[in-house]
Amino acid sequence: MISEKMQKAINDQINAEFYSSYFYLSMAAYCESENYKGFAEWFRLQAEEERTHGFKLFDYLQERGGRVILKAIEEPPSNFKSVKDTFEQTLEHERKVTSLINNLNKLAIEENDYATQAHLQWFISEQVEEEATAEDILNQIKMVEGEPGSLFYIDRHIVGQRASSRESE
Ligand code: FEO
Repeated sequence: MISEKMQKAINDQINAEFYSSYFYLSMAAYCESENYKGFAEWFRLQAEEERTHGFKLFDYLQERGGRVILKAIEEPPSNFKSVKDTFEQTLEHERKVTSLINNLNKLAIEENDYATQAHLQWFISEQVEEEATAEDILNQIKMVEGEPGSLFYIDRHIVGQRASSRESE
């Protein structure tokens, strides 16, 4: 049986993962409205992926005999300055999620909860990937600043980049 403290912390993380999904869906809507169809699709896929992160913890908590308690999902920002702004916010957000996962793991260590520590290893590795991907795309966008044609080119190829990086995992 999982401890009350651990259960509460995992429930908080479930909420954070579903918020991440909502956050990226909002960015997808923004990119779509600006006609960046590739970035819009990229953010939709990212939103889907965040839902799977939420479900991974949802299923895990239930497997351990815990109780999933869903809370309200905070409203994400809806106005962004540019595509560059969305990826700056993505990187900042993923860094925040990394620290949430690290804190969750720290608690699992304090609670002598070995199963949760093992489960969180996947999330710890995933965060390395998430931060690296956001940083890489942000760097590509920064490299072509002031060149709308080049940004359009990245937009058209960004989903393909995502697929090939996931295949190589
Ligand atoms: Fe679920 Fe992007 O971390």
